[in-house]
Amino acid sequence: MPQPITSLEGEVYYPPQEVIAQAHVPDWDGLQAEADADYLGFWEARARELEWQAPWRMVMDDSRAPFYKWFLGARTNIVHNALDRHVATWRRNKLALIWEGEPGDQRSLSYHALHREVGQFAQVLKSMGAERGDRITIYMGRIPEIIVAMLACAKIGAVHSVVYGGFSVEALHGRIEDSQSKLLITADGGWLNGKIVRLKDIADEALRRCASVEHVIVVRRTGHEVRMEPGRDFWYDDLLQLPLSRPGNDRPQTEILDAEEPLYILYTSGTTGKPKAIVHTHAGYQVGTYATLKYVFDLREEDRWWCAADPGWVTGHSYIVYGPLLNGATSFMYEGAPTYPYPDRWWRMIEKYGITILYTAPTAIRGLMRFGDAWPARHDLSSLRLLGTVGEPINPEAWKWYHRAIGKGRCPIMDTWWQTETGMFMITPVPSAPLKPGSATKPFFGQQAEVVGEDGQVVPDGEEGNLVLKRPWPAMLRTIYGDDDRYVEQYWSKYPGRYLTGDSAKRDRDGYFWIIGRVDDVIKVSGYRLGTAEIESALVSHASVAEAAVIGLPDELKGHAIHAFCILRAGYSPSIQLQEELKAHVAHEIGPIARPAEIQFTDALPKTRSGKIMRRVLKARALGMSEGDTSTLEE
Ligand code: WTA
Repeated sequence: MPQPITSLEGEVYYPPQEVIAQAHVPDWDGLQAEADADYLGFWEARARELEWQAPWRMVMDDSRAPFYKWFLGARTNIVHNALDRHVATWRRNKLALIWEGEPGDQRSLSYHALHREVGQFAQVLKSMGAERGDRITIYMGRIPEIIVAMLACAKIGAVHSVVYGGFSVEALHGRIEDSQSKLLITADGGWLNGKIVRLKDIADEALRRCASVEHVIVVRRTGHEVRMEPGRDFWYDDLLQLPLSRPGNDRPQTEILDAEEPLYILYTSGTTGKPKAIVHTHAGYQVGTYATLKYVFDLREEDRWWCAADPGWVTGHSYIVYGPLLNGATSFMYEGAPTYPYPDRWWRMIEKYGITILYTAPTAIRGLMRFGDAWPARHDLSSLRLLGTVGEPINPEAWKWYHRAIGKGRCPIMDTWWQTETGMFMITPVPSAPLKPGSATKPFFGQQAEVVGEDGQVVPDGEEGNLVLKRPWPAMLRTIYGDDDRYVEQYWSKYPGRYLTGDSAKRDRDGYFWIIGRVDDVIKVSGYRLGTAEIESALVSHASVAEAAVIGLPDELKGHAIHAFCILRAGYSPSIQLQEELKAHVAHEIGPIARPAEIQFTDALPKTRSGKIMRRVLKARALGMSEGDTSTLEE
C-alpha cells in the first residue's frame, strides 16, 4: 500500500504500514469517494451483512423529512443480530463480555450465557406485565446485568430508558416521570472509589416523587442492606430462579418488529428547559452502530475491545452494548474508578486481559496523564493496537501522551466526533487515515459536513462557524420522545435541509474538521453532557435561591467546570457555608457530576429585554473578555 501522495498541512501522523495492510478499509479516500457517490448503496451493502426477518422496500424514505425512515418495510429486532444470530454459530462459545468489578471480582459471559440470561430476564419482564412499546427505566452501575436488562427490554420490544448511575434523585425522577415507566430495574448499589453508591436509596427517594412505577427489580451487587417494599420490589436473582418454564417459556422468542419501531430513549441536555429524550430505532441504529464500529476500530474476531464509557450514556449504548455484539466481538467492561486503588488500574487490566483496543474520553486521559509515565510503564501494554477518544475536543498534549505513553507510538488514535442524537460515529478517521492531533478528521463514509455562518453560507476554510451535517444517516435520532415539534425546531429549522449539531467547528484546507465546542447551553463536564437549565432549576429548588445562572468555564482536567451565579431570596445572606450547601444540594438532586465548582452570589443577572439570561455575557465577564454585542441587554 503506497503512502498517501498528498502532503497534508500541519502536524500529521501517518498510519504504520502494517495497520494499513490489515485494515478493513485500506484506502480511506477511495471508499470515501465511492460512498459519497452512492451513499444509500453504501448503507444498503452494510445492511446486507446482517440477517433480516423480512427485507426492506426502501433504504431511506425522505418523503416526510426531517422525519426520515430507514430500511422501510424490513422486519427485525436488534437482538436477533446481536445475540440470536451468533448462538447459532461457533460464536456461542466465544466470550461476549469479560467483566471486572472494582473490588476485583470477575465474571465472563459467552454468547451462549448472555443469550440465555437475556432470554430468562425477558421472560421475567413479560411475567411482570411488560409489553411491546412500554418504557422501562434502568438505573444501575457498570455491571453485566445492565447489559442483560437493556437487551431483555429490546428482545420483547419494550423501550429502554437508561439513566446514568451517577445521576441522583431529581434527575432520575424527572426521567421516570417523562417516560411514564411502569418498571424500574436497578441495583442495591455499585462500587466506586472503594465506596458504595447507594443506588436503591436514591431510587426510593425518586420514586416517592412519582407514581407511574409499579415494580422495581433490584440486582444484588454490593450486598448491603436496603429497604425492599413488599409487593413492589423484587430481587433480580430471585426472579430469574422462578419457575417460568411452562413448555416453550424457557426459550423465549425474540419479538420481530418493524424497522422503525423504537429501541430506546435516552435523555440528554439540549438548549433550553429540561432534558429531552432522544428516540432510536431497531433497524437503522443497528446498521449504523454495526458498520461504524467495524470500520473505525477495524474489529476482528480476536480483538478484546474496551469502551471505557458508561452504559448509561450513548457511548455505552452504541459501543459497549449494541455495536460490539452486532459484530460478534468480545468486550471488556470495568465497574469502578480508573485510579482505584492506584492510578495503574486501567493499565493493569489491559495487561491482564490482553485488551487490543481502548476507547475512552480526553478527560480520562488527562486525569491519568497527571500521574506520569511511570504507572503505565510498569505494565506490558503491547496487546494494544488501536486507541480511541470521544466526548470533547482532545488537546494535542493529551493526544500525544496517549499516543506515546499508552500506544507506544504504534497505535493510531481514532478521534470520533458524534452525539447522542447521531447514535453513531459521524466525523472520524479509520485506521488507515493520516491523523492530526486534535482533529476528528473527516465525515464517515457517505456523510457530508459543513461549517456555516449565521446566514447559512459555508465559511472560508480556517474560520469558525456552526457545524452542520448534510445527509440523513441510518442511526440518526427519529424524534424527541413526545415532542415532534421540538425535534424539527431544534435540529432542522435554523438551516432547513441540514442537521444542526449545536457545535462550532473549523475546517482546514485539507478538509479536516476541528471541533471547538458547544455553542448552545450545553456544558461538557468531564465529557458528560449537562444542561445549564437543569442545574439552574436544581439551584432554584433550594429555599435560599431566587434566581440562578450557570455557565461552563475552561478547566484543565474536566474540560469545563460549572460556575453558578445565584440571587438569594430575602432573608438569606451570602456565606461560605451556604455556598457549600448549594453545591451539595445540586449533587444530591442531579448527581456528583453536576456539582458546581464555584458559586457566586450576585444581586443581578445580565438579561435581554425579553428576560432571557445572557450566559454569554457572564462568561465573557468571568474570563475578562469583551462582552461582544450587548445591544439587547436590559438596562
Ligand atoms: C462533543 C457523546 C470534540 C460535541 C458521544 C458533541 C466531541 C457532544 C467529540 C455530544 C470529539 C463528542 N471531539 N467534541 N471527538 N465527541 N464531542 O451527546 O460537543 O454526550 O456535540 O455524545 O460532545 O455529546 P453526547
